[in-house]
Amino acid sequence: KVGLRGRDFISLHDFSQGELLEMIHLALALKAERKAGVSHPLLQGKTLGMIFTKSSTRTRVSFEVGMFQLGGHALFLSGRDIQLGRGETIPDTARVLSRMVDGIMIRTFSHREVLELAEYATVPVINALTDHLHPTQVLADLLTIQEHKGRLKGLKLAYIGDGNNMAHSLMYGCGKMGLQVVIASPQGYRPDAEVTAQAQADARANGGSVEVVEDPWLAAAGADVLYTDVWASMGQEGEAEIRKQAFAGYQINAELLRAAAKKAIVLHCLPAHRGEEISAEVLEGEQSVVFDEAENRLHAQKAILASLL
Ligand code: CP
Ligand code: NVA
Repeated sequence: KVGLRGRDFISLHDFSQGELLEMIHLALALKAERKAGVSHPLLQGKTLGMIFTKSSTRTRVSFEVGMFQLGGHALFLSGRDIQLGRGETIPDTARVLSRMVDGIMIRTFSHREVLELAEYATVPVINALTDHLHPTQVLADLLTIQEHKGRLKGLKLAYIGDGNNMAHSLMYGCGKMGLQVVIASPQGYRPDAEVTAQAQADARANGGSVEVVEDPWLAAAGADVLYTDVWASMGQEGEAEIRKQAFAGYQINAELLRAAAKKAIVLHCLPAHRGEEISAEVLEGEQSVVFDEAENRLHAQKAILASLL
């Protein structure tokens, strides 16, 4: 039996295949209970502080509703409103919050800030997206793939686009769960080399693989899961025009989907830019499961919270 209680949730690299599987199974059970109208107040009386210095729809709502459904309470702490935004340090914020809440969730730009928060906090810290990683999204993605494909091991997942936070967490999480991950990114926008090497080692040790290529067709060929994300992430708005040129040809559209396996599913963490990284036709098409995926943020979040807190 693995110990998840009290742990931080910062990178999927930090968890074993068995631990990730345990959280996926818990998410499936919590989802089934919820659908059956069974309440599960596993976190009665517990509180989660949620620091956001970036926008969010899915992450914020899923954590807040998730805490409520587990019998606890969540506090939305906008970076603009708390003293952090006026220069109070991360170590001070971590130690103060740790005296009052049972867990801290943070979405911010710098990954180092999350690591620093975790270093000083005495309660679990959950990474709800940094410029570097987006691990909670990938737990929901794994849950979605498991539901639609009935398994994880041996499936091919092709990610088409920016070698960003999503690409990094997919490489870690899906590689570790035994998927064959192929990332297709243009030169200059490839995933971080250190993350790639680490994710490849993780994958190898767990029966999966991680590969980075330039050709989106090579990645998509025979894939069971096609995944993409925006060309310009939060904080990169000023690069949007340059990026549009760099990523031309890196779109999931009907043509690319035809290169994938016959019953391939299409995932996107959302929000989406139709006509850029994905065509409207594919996003709204039969093979797209993006709204199941969005719903699964709630069930996956609850599994993370119930395990850690
Ligand atoms: N996918 C995702 O994290 O969405 P939000 O930015 O809306 O939270
Ligand atoms: N890569 C995107 C993901 C949003 C959920 C971003 O960081 O903005």
